[in-house]
Amino acid sequence: MSIRAELIDQDPSDGKAGRPLPRDFIWGVSTSSYQIEGAVTADGRGASVWDTFCRKPGQIANGDTGDVACDHYHRFAEDIALMRRLGVQAYRFSVAWPRVLPQGSGPPNEAGLAFYDRLIDGLLEAGIQPWLCLYHWDLPQALQDRGGWEVREIARWFGDYARLVARRYGDRVKHFATFNEPSVFTLFGYGFAWHPPGLTDRAALHRAIHHVNLAHGAGVDAIRAVVPRAKIAAIHNVQPSRPVGTTPEDAAAARLLDAYWNQAFPEPQLLGRYPAELAPLMEAVVRPGDFERIQRPVDWFGVNHYSPIYARADAKAPLGFAWADAPPEAPRSPIGWQLDPAAFRDVLLELHRRYRLPIYVTENGTGAVEAPNDAGEIHDRERIEYLKAYGEALREAVAAGADVRGYFVWSLLDNFEWGAGYANRFGLVYVDFATQRRIPKASAHWYARMIHAQAMEGVQ
Ligand code: FCB
Repeated sequence: MSIRAELIDQDPSDGKAGRPLPRDFIWGVSTSSYQIEGAVTADGRGASVWDTFCRKPGQIANGDTGDVACDHYHRFAEDIALMRRLGVQAYRFSVAWPRVLPQGSGPPNEAGLAFYDRLIDGLLEAGIQPWLCLYHWDLPQALQDRGGWEVREIARWFGDYARLVARRYGDRVKHFATFNEPSVFTLFGYGFAWHPPGLTDRAALHRAIHHVNLAHGAGVDAIRAVVPRAKIAAIHNVQPSRPVGTTPEDAAAARLLDAYWNQAFPEPQLLGRYPAELAPLMEAVVRPGDFERIQRPVDWFGVNHYSPIYARADAKAPLGFAWADAPPEAPRSPIGWQLDPAAFRDVLLELHRRYRLPIYVTENGTGAVEAPNDAGEIHDRERIEYLKAYGEALREAVAAGADVRGYFVWSLLDNFEWGAGYANRFGLVYVDFATQRRIPKASAHWYARMIHAQAMEGVQ
């Protein structure tokens, strides 16, 4: 892919670096295993909870599944070549737990482990840092069958899995993350039934939250013991939670959503306590000594951010609140997500103030329903506008003192977008799912040019 200026609508601010960022700022792209790999039965991979969930009628738009996805398992070399042409310095991916441990614990699957060897070696040869996330929601179904996140033993299973991965790749991987967005898969999986295991059960949600936190601590310890020089973190989605109405009940609903969404994991992991709204609810599952197990030292804070979220009171809902839409007048992306770059800036500043860790934005981006034009090109002007506006917000946060050291676009490729199936495309690179042909969108050319301009600024 050459940097084709004619694909990018000319705008004098395109490609200019704007306010200064730290010299060694990292530009990257993100993906996750279930969303891109496909090959769900290849070479001994075990089933994941998403394989099961996708087969439940009515769960996923269009009946889509991750069975093939982007076929990245077989096309990873082409995808690394795309990243190299983009000029990204880092690639954040996740390991599929059931690919390396088909039963979740017990004997590892050598063929599955070898896949990530090939991926990591290919990245390093291309000069791209591998950033490895252990868990992006594809729990082995075998562990779900033994109780999944509801049983305390899962912290040990996760620790063993982390040790296996650290031993295998720790000679080449420096950046590790334990979990991606623990609040999303717990709240959606146990509170709203939108993700596996498809429950609306408050007590189960609280068990899952606490056991994920214990697993995080076990994972950090396992990686640290094997790879002392590792840079370890968890990745949290942090988005302002707002009441949809003006009643005190709606305000309380937004506070409770804030506690589940933004605080249930960073607070115990970094400050050793549950937020005030959750602490009494968590008493039934917390045992003496647990916060020492959870609050293990980490090296950075991974933040994913898209847009603000809204809540309204609903006495009949299992958690006492319902998910709500942004106000009708709010600007929105083509798939209806609110656009509010100032919220991103404020989140970065608040995370800096509260946790004092180096921050890496591990996901940011925007979705659309897209198709190539007659010339076979994708002019995704709205995505470029989004990345520019959110990039400017990031620069404002840095100028105001936030210690942000890197930024990863979600996503390298269009992929399996969970409940939305393949309808919502988030890629810089378009994927024709019928042929698996990859076509860099205008935003890919824009991102490449911006990274290049930024690098040039660094050498001046
Ligand atoms: C995040 C997920 C990621 C992707 C984006 C759009 O919540 O981490 O897998 O689905 O949203």
